[in-house]
This record gives sequence, C-alpha cells and structure tokens, in this order.
Amino acid sequence: MSQTQTIDPSDVGNRSAVQSVVNKQETVKMPKGQISTVALEKSYFKGQHKIPVLRGVEVAVNEGEFVSIVGQSGSGKSTLLHLIGLLDTPDVGEILMNGDRIDDLPEKSRDQLRNHVFGFIFQFYHLLPELSLLENVMSPLMIRHSLWSFWKQRRAMREQACEIIAKVGLGHRMKHKPSELSGGEMQRAAIARALITKPTVLLADEPTGNLDSDTGGEIMDLLASLNEHDRLTIVMVTHDDSIARQAHRIVRLKEGRIEAVDRAA
Ligand SMILES: Nc1ncnc2c1ncn2[C@@H]1O[C@H](COP(=O)(O)OP(=O)(O)O)[C@@H](O)[C@H]1O
Ligand SMILES: [Mg+2]
Repeated sequence: MSQTQTIDPSDVGNRSAVQSVVNKQETVKMPKGQISTVALEKSYFKGQHKIPVLRGVEVAVNEGEFVSIVGQSGSGKSTLLHLIGLLDTPDVGEILMNGDRIDDLPEKSRDQLRNHVFGFIFQFYHLLPELSLLENVMSPLMIRHSLWSFWKQRRAMREQACEIIAKVGLGHRMKHKPSELSGGEMQRAAIARALITKPTVLLADEPTGNLDSDTGGEIMDLLASLNEHDRLTIVMVTHDDSIARQAHRIVRLKEGRIEAVDRAA
C-alpha cells in the first residue's frame, strides 16, 4: 500500500489542508466530510432554450450526518448530487468541503477529491457485467494504481476487498457475475465498490429505486450502519418519503429551490 497521509483535524477548514491532499499522488486519508453549497445555480440548454434546474440552492451537510434530498422527478436532485460530487460544475455558486471551496479547483485536484473523498452509488448499480463481484469491487483500485503498483500490492488489495465484501454481507458471492446476483445483492456490491477507496462522503442516487420495499429496507439498514458505525457522511437522493425519513434530515427540493428542511429520524 502506498504511504497514507493523515490530516490533523485542526487543519479542517484550512484550504491549504485540502490543497495539500489533492496535490498528493498517493492514497490519502481525508478529514471527515462536511459539505455545503452556496447559491448553486445550474441550467441546461434544449437547443436555444435555457432550462433552469437549480435556482440558488444552499445545503449544509455536517460531518457524519445522513441527509436525504427529496423531490419530484425532474426537481433537480441528481443534478445537485452530481455538483456536490464534482461530477459536474455549477453555473453560479460554490461547493465547500470543510469550509474550503472545491468546485473551482483545477481539474486534476477535482479528480483527486472525486477519487479519494467521494463514493458514489446509483439506482442501476453500474457494475461491469463481465467481471466477478470481487473484480468489480477491486476495479477502482486497479484504475487508481499503475499496473506494477497494483501487481505488487494485489494480495493486500484482495484482502481489503474481501473484508469489505464480507461486511456488506456478500462473502458467499465473491466469484459471482452481476447477472448471477439479485437486485439487492447488486446494490450491496456497488456499495462495496464505493467503500474500497475509503471515501469520507457517500453520495447515493435513488439507491433503493429499483428494489422491492423489503430489499430496499435492507439496503437502508446497511447505509444507516455505515453512517453510524463508520461515521460516513451520506447524502442520499430519493423520491420516496418513507425512505427519506430514515436519514437524520430531509432537504426538500421543488422546482430547483429548497422548499423545506425537516428533521427526520
Ligand atoms: N445533461 C442534461 N442535459 C439536459 N437536461 C438535463 C440534463 N440533466 C438533467 N436535465 C434536466 O434537468 C431537470 C432535472 O433533472 P434531474 O436533476 O435529473 O432531476 P431529478 O433527479 O430530481 O429527477 C430535468 O428536467 C432533466 O430533464
Ligand atoms: Mg434523478
């Protein structure tokens, strides 16, 4: 394993702390994730026609918090999640992590943050069909490391992947391909793949959207346990109020604006 750098928690909120991390090539352990957005605006164009999607969104997610973002289809939930995770850039406004602006960092630094800080899970899992569960979970490490570095550390990485797979309850499915897994198992696999890079913040877009309610409930229990026991900050998008209520707070999005913020669990 390459050298791990731990940031002094007292540095949190200091831009140079984030900067020093994003400048490093090696695997780094980030400070716990506090995320906020300031006056976010985002529009898409349909031909010449400008369609405003987010119209000044301010959200703050505390370190170790589990927040749901709810709203009707088309209200801008996924757009907001993508902006927070640096998968896209806002037209106006800022994304802050631990008080430091991160949306305007150079592309390379944004890549580093995306790979080291954020974990993503999606409604349709996005597993690679030709790879086994174990290979899917290890794939972010294969991408992160050079061939030589991966080869040298393959045993440790395999062990790490096996541990995480066992933790999400799939120890008996290691060699299965995604087509041989149930929906709930595929989402567990996607969660394991997100966890392998030791993210600080998990961004989940409709993680139960394709599952029956019992299986969805099991995935929610897993997310709640990762939040509670591993102090993972979670931002989850859903259109389902009963799912949303299982987080600590619910941010309600309507027509690109925050309509309300409710306490939940
Ligand atoms: N890449 C894109 N190009 C054009 N329009 C988009 C794009 N992404 C989203 N939209 C539009 O933005 C609006 C909000 O989308 P989205 O954030 O996906 O909503 P939600 O996740 O709440 O259903 C929708 O009207 C959608 O069609
Ligand atoms: Mg969406």
